[in-house]
Amino acid sequence: MISFGFSRYGDPSVLQAYQVPIPQPKKHQVQIRVAYFPVNPYDVALRAGQFAQVPLEKPQYLGSDLVGKVTALGAEVTEFAIGDWVIAHRPHSADSEFVIAGVSKTIRLPHLLDPAVAACLPTPGIAAYNAWFHFAQVPAHTTVAIIGVTGAVGGLLAQIAQQAGNPVIGVANHRHQSEITQPGLSKFVPYDQLPATNDWEHQATVVFNTGMGGQDHGLAARLVAPAGQIIRFNGAPTQVDDEQVQLIDVGYRRELADGVALKFWSDQCQQRPLFLRLAEILPATLTGLRQAHQRTSEPHQGKYVLVWDWAQGLSPTKPKKVD
Ligand SMILES: NC(=O)c1ccc[n+]([C@@H]2O[C@H](COP(=O)([O-])OP(=O)(O)OC[C@H]3O[C@@H](n4cnc5c(N)ncnc54)[C@H](OP(=O)(O)O)[C@@H]3O)[C@@H](O)[C@H]2O)c1
Repeated sequence: MISFGFSRYGDPSVLQAYQVPIPQPKKHQVQIRVAYFPVNPYDVALRAGQFAQVPLEKPQYLGSDLVGKVTALGAEVTEFAIGDWVIAHRPHSADSEFVIAGVSKTIRLPHLLDPAVAACLPTPGIAAYNAWFHFAQVPAHTTVAIIGVTGAVGGLLAQIAQQAGNPVIGVANHRHQSEITQPGLSKFVPYDQLPATNDWEHQATVVFNTGMGGQDHGLAARLVAPAGQIIRFNGAPTQVDDEQVQLIDVGYRRELADGVALKFWSDQCQQRPLFLRLAEILPATLTGLRQAHQRTSEPHQGKYVLVWDWAQGLSPTKPKKVD
């Protein structure tokens, strides 16, 4: 089968299609034939060598998120059956024709959710869920601010805030002002055309900085209320004079469970439409993947998703009817 990755860091031209054996599921794992997988900013940063520049000794296989169909069961799997459509989260190698995934990181595809959209959910959905419920302490009914509110993580956080009853100050580029439809948005602050009034400053008990690469446009410190929290998704430096403000990085914690976060979003989908934007669906070819990487590294709105040939043209709302 094909698995996409790279053997040296660089621009999208370093991406390669490798021929590798189809992985076989072990205990508590399922094998999934992948239909859709997205490109996340993390994949682009990894390929570009932003995390490490040490020479690679073997190919690095890309991808964390996917939707597909269960094709084999490991020992002691009772949660899924062959033929189930599922969403899964993986540490790597989601950009493949087949993957294996642990049952604790896999959920059934909610029947109301378009599978291409669902493929974009794991990484931003898990990050948004964990940030709100485990890293931040959001006082009831207080205002929060979301930098990058039109992005995947930011948009999902806005949905959580709305349901929790916390008004949201959303920060994004001014060009989104007319089209902005994020749920729960009480105020929009364009970072490149700041309002003349300062009624948005120091109002947010918690500021979520979901800006690409940790870019906050110098606004996190201006948005946060005295002794509030700034929740960072990239660990980029943040200049804050108020020593009482807490800087908190969303990262790994042992007690966090992907399955719990995915189940949360699955339940949400049963109740209301999920707000998660697709930019484009491209064929899962080397050319398609290189284009998706290139476009994700340029200013964009929504996720680029790759579809394998076998899944092209499947009815997105009725995947369970297909063999
Ligand atoms: N710590 C974690 O666990 C975790 C998990 C998921 C994501 N993240 C990080 O969180 C950030 C947001 O992720 P996401 O998936 O929400 O991203 P996204 O949806 O792809 O983009 C978020 C926003 O970034 C701006 N943007 C788009 N392209 C850009 C570019 N080339 N340069 C600068 N800004 C650009 C856009 O807003 P405007 O048009 O308004 O500028 C866009 O809405 C990323 O840096 C990602 O690495 C961290």
